[in-house]
Amino acid sequence: MDRFVIKGGTRLEGSIRVNGSKNAALPLLAASLLTDQPVTLRDVPDLADISNMLRLLGELGCRKVAESIGSPRSMTVRVADESASHARYEIVRTMRAGICILGPMLARRGVARVSMPGGCAIGDRPVDLHLRGLQALGARISLDSGDIVATAPSGRLRGARVFLGGPFGSTVLGTANVMSAATLARGTTVIECAACEPEIVDLAALLSRMGARIEGAGSPRITIHGVEALGGADHTVIPDRIEAGTLMCAAAITDGDVTIENCPLDALMAAVDRLHAMGVLVEEQPSSGEPDPMRCSCRVRRAGPMRPVEITTQPHPGFPTDLQAQFLATLCLGSGNSVVTEKIFPERFLHVAELTRMGAQVVRAGPTVIVSGVHRLVGAPVMASDLRASAGLVLAGLAAGGTTVVNRVYHLDRGYERLDERLGALGARITREDDRAEVERIPLVETKSVAQPAASAV
Ligand code: EPU
Repeated sequence: MDRFVIKGGTRLEGSIRVNGSKNAALPLLAASLLTDQPVTLRDVPDLADISNMLRLLGELGCRKVAESIGSPRSMTVRVADESASHARYEIVRTMRAGICILGPMLARRGVARVSMPGGCAIGDRPVDLHLRGLQALGARISLDSGDIVATAPSGRLRGARVFLGGPFGSTVLGTANVMSAATLARGTTVIECAACEPEIVDLAALLSRMGARIEGAGSPRITIHGVEALGGADHTVIPDRIEAGTLMCAAAITDGDVTIENCPLDALMAAVDRLHAMGVLVEEQPSSGEPDPMRCSCRVRRAGPMRPVEITTQPHPGFPTDLQAQFLATLCLGSGNSVVTEKIFPERFLHVAELTRMGAQVVRAGPTVIVSGVHRLVGAPVMASDLRASAGLVLAGLAAGGTTVVNRVYHLDRGYERLDERLGALGARITREDDRAEVERIPLVETKSVAQPAASAV
């Protein structure tokens, strides 16, 4: 298994381009199941979760008919065979986002069998709202051997009013599922308390290019007028707002000066607001062409010591839970007490104990963490079994004195493409190692030969 070895203390400087968004690309790929025509996606990140989604689509009869490798990469997928309907446990357990094939499959094939995703390191992660939403469109849903089995009676869903609010707000992939399913339903669907995340707006943009009739995406009420069929489309994935926010934190925590290209500033208002309060400047740079707030160039640097702040995670446009760990790590070097409250996944604090091992002063009380800023973090071996928590540890390692080893970076590789190389290009001293060699050097038991005791006389 790979790990990162980080020698901290270098200011990051230079320019870096944000990749296409993982969380946008996953439901976009799933939407290719809604048509038998080719769907081309541009700026698809090269990540383990994307490969797993492509494996799942392959099992469901989809073929990759073209691909341009390199960065940014694009690919064209097309359904060749619509007879399969089973998203198996073996794939869904590697990637919870496998659930977002449920809506497209049900709408197009009238049947879907998807392994029920379990919890993960950040919490329980139920899918009750997805199922309630699809049931409102007329789907019959049952559970069989750990699989969700969904069918559309008479082969087609029907439009309905659907309320998607839950105890923690709306659901992003649930909204993606219901919106995708409603595109081919008979009649009009209104989703109330829909997720407003930019990834939903991007999905609506692709579906509209495919011929869907969608109004209101990006607001809490989305209206979808069902159509008879959808066609192919060519679409560029939005840049990854979480990667961009992570890079902003990397500039802040190292007291660096980084220009972030292809930056979805418009989708990061809450994070930028907190950075400003922390004394970090985020300045949009003049563009040579038509300005695009989702693809701009931003210079990020500190204006002085890092000030403490309060952060509460919320559904978009509030502060994103997927940036909580990175900001929490950054605030460990703030000049006072910060308060971070997690309102989407109240258990999402795997990084806290690991940051403490690096000298951070962090106290957790339920969904709230109090961070007392320290002057210095110290390198240590650390590990977190969650993607964003691992990103927080990498940031802490960049600023810490000495060497930090972040173990099991396959979690990071699920969401950040070659983060080691890309931070290295900004001056970070970070190398990727395979930790097996070292483990194998440690003997299983002491093998030194010992003298046998002489047989005792009888
Ligand atoms: N929830 C329910 N019932 C449901 C669905 C969700 O109660 O049926 C609750 C969840 O437990 C949570 C809240 O609603 O408390 C929001 O969950 P949501 O469904 O929005 O999460 P998701 O769609 O499964 C996506 C991202 C996550 C991100 C969340 C919240 C993808 C592939 N995943 O998950 O991203 O944290 O939205 O913004 O888009 C990540 O990238 O590291 C990541 C975990």
